[in-house]
Amino acid sequence: MTAGKVRVWDFPVRLFHWSLVTMFATAYLTSDDAEALHQWAGYIALGLVAFRIVWGFIGTPHARFADFVPRPARLANYLGLLARGREPRHLGHNPAAAVMIVFLLAMVAVIGSTGWLMTTDWGWGNETIEALHAGAVKLTLAAIAFHVVAAVFESMRHRENLVLSMLTGYKRR
Ligand code: HEM
Ligand code: HEM
Repeated sequence: MTAGKVRVWDFPVRLFHWSLVTMFATAYLTSDDAEALHQWAGYIALGLVAFRIVWGFIGTPHARFADFVPRPARLANYLGLLARGREPRHLGHNPAAAVMIVFLLAMVAVIGSTGWLMTTDWGWGNETIEALHAGAVKLTLAAIAFHVVAAVFESMRHRENLVLSMLTGYKRR
């Protein structure tokens, strides 16, 4: 432990996050021409999400869903305070970030599964599945933009660098 700092994100969480960013970007950028790379990156993203779900039950304290996934009342309370500019700082994920995190995990699962379905005899050429795959990607891109802006916003509000914390694992006490 470093003076005044506390370890919040364990190594698996950080590795998971930046691998997911890399795989998502790779799958997105290869969707037009590099089919093999596209599918590999998508499957790895799917595997990362599966890993994160397991880690959400057995990981270190702040990695656990029980530590950050809020009950509706807690979320509503946090959003009310946020609207008045008085939201408290959280050492782990704040309730609003937690909802975004669960949403992003679910969306990557939907994108990966519909992608896989398109490669099966059953789903090949199915326009509904193609539309679901493409639509889920668009929605997720918008959510990611919001996720990044929110991380920068909360960093400024609490005078800390949350993006750096997701790299080093440390936060101010
Ligand atoms: C360069 C772009 C990105 C930046 C700067 C970024 C930044 C962050 C930060 C700072 C956190 C911690 C939030 C907190 O302290 O509460 C976080 C968590 C998270 N982000 Fe991102 N993010 C990026 C892209 C993405 C993408 C593309 C995805 C998914 C496709 C994603 C999914 C997640 C998830 C699932 C978590 C929770 C981490 C965990 O507990 O395992 N992020 N991100
Ligand atoms: C996070 C993971 C993924 C992302 C971000 C992603 C993104 C995309 C995008 C942007 C497209 C183009 C959609 C359009 O036509 O407008 C696409 C198409 C496609 N993806 Fe993915 N994808 C992912 C995972 C996968 C996986 C795991 C597979 C299969 C193993 C897959 C198979 C396909 C196929 C077959 C198409 C072409 C569909 C068509 O002919 O229109 N994708 N994907």
